[in-house]
Amino acid sequence: MKSTKLIFMLALSLMIFNCSSDSSDDLKEEEEMNPGTTALTYDGDIRSIINNNCNQCHGSTPSNGAPFSLTTYAQVSGRVDRIIARTNSSTSPMPPSGQINSSLRAMIQQWKDDGLLEN
Ligand code: HEC
Repeated sequence: MKSTKLIFMLALSLMIFNCSSDSSDDLKEEEEMNPGTTALTYDGDIRSIINNNCNQCHGSTPSNGAPFSLTTYAQVSGRVDRIIARTNSSTSPMPPSGQINSSLRAMIQQWKDDGLLEN
């Protein structure tokens, strides 16, 4: 009876110890990956970049020969790899008039690295 109680207490304290050390490890990992920043989101960061630089052709009704619309989260996140490739291309950039500035291009890459959050 006495030893059962002891084992129970031991198991309980191990569980508590595990939980608390796990969550602080997770927090630390997240801080190291992304020091001092919050994750970028479509609503907060990306929508306006696409709106200012792409939607005159890739609008809800595409124009000027653009093959698709880039006006919703699903459309933009679904094509993020082609968007990154073409915005960074020096030989056939998007927009066709020339590359947008490198900090905006870096933000699109960062959004992908942060996990393509919507908001
Ligand atoms: C002046 C009109 C215009 C603007 C502005 C424009 N595009 Fe395009 N886009 C096109 C046309 C036309 C095509 C098809 C021809 C081609 O691929 O070059 C195209 C094709 C694309 C493709 C598909 C090509 C592929 O290789 O898969 C992507 C992705 C794309 N655009 C992304 C963008 C993004 C992102 C922006 C803004 C940063 C943008 N476009 C701005 C006209 C435009």
